[in-house]
Amino acid sequence: MSATDVDPVEAWVEALYAEALADLRWPELRKGVQALSALYVHGRDKGDLAPRAAEGRGKAAAFRCFFAPLHLLVARALVASLPGPGPEEALPRQLLDLGCGSGAAGAGVGLQLAAWGSAPEIDGVDRVAEHLPYARRTYAALGLRAKLRSGSLPGALGQPGPGQLLVLGWSLNELDPAGRIATVAALRRALDRGAGLLLLEPLSTKISPWWPELADALAEIGVSEHLFKERIPLPEKLRDMDKSAGLDHQLLGCRALHRWPRAPAA
Ligand SMILES: C[S@@+](CC[C@H](N)C(=O)[O-])C[C@H]1O[C@@H](n2cnc3c(N)ncnc32)[C@H](O)[C@@H]1O
Repeated sequence: MSATDVDPVEAWVEALYAEALADLRWPELRKGVQALSALYVHGRDKGDLAPRAAEGRGKAAAFRCFFAPLHLLVARALVASLPGPGPEEALPRQLLDLGCGSGAAGAGVGLQLAAWGSAPEIDGVDRVAEHLPYARRTYAALGLRAKLRSGSLPGALGQPGPGQLLVLGWSLNELDPAGRIATVAALRRALDRGAGLLLLEPLSTKISPWWPELADALAEIGVSEHLFKERIPLPEKLRDMDKSAGLDHQLLGCRALHRWPRAPAA
């Protein structure tokens, strides 16, 4: 990138705010950020989080303008910190962005892979169909090839194998216990067939108390655990919104379970 080029992530964030602020005033968007933040932390007991997180103009815009860009930045930085593929493994040819929302985690992973010279195609899936047009725009704005489909985990996983990386960015914690157990079983079968995995969740295990048991079980098949925390420079609008909403994202982090996919047969 030359000094005069605009960073595509900055440009994407600017475009998200321009669109949201054509419809909402800044204080309304700020309230949406605060409401969604409270819902993610305290509102889980009422169940079925995914549609509730997307309802209402303020929360829906906050999801796209604030939390999604934070997810993209942390997913990209986490992938940059991972060791490269081992013997018989390879960088993925395809990413399955499972619970893609507006496309943030898959795009963050895809951008880092593209920076390494491997530009995978993304298959984005979400149970909330309203997210899909936004995911399409996110991937396109960042120069990533993608197709989208509406579908619910675990069924939407299909039968992935070598060359494919399953990305679950902050989505597994939204499933009810039966859905999560069935999804983990399907992920394990996919790993046994040679698919790779990148499962991202918050550093705190308050909403993912099942994490240590899952990490232990998957360690047996070569999935490594990473605790990641870094100071990542935020685009200007995110810095302003963070301050305005009384939040503090100077340090961004996540916990991850990761294994690269097996190389597909030549
Ligand atoms: C916190 S959002 C994260 C979205 C995106 N991965 C990101 O990094 O910004 C969780 C996403 O998982 C989706 N989701 C929840 N349950 C799902 C299920 N059973 N099948 C597919 N998607 C699901 C929600 O609709 C939501 O878009």
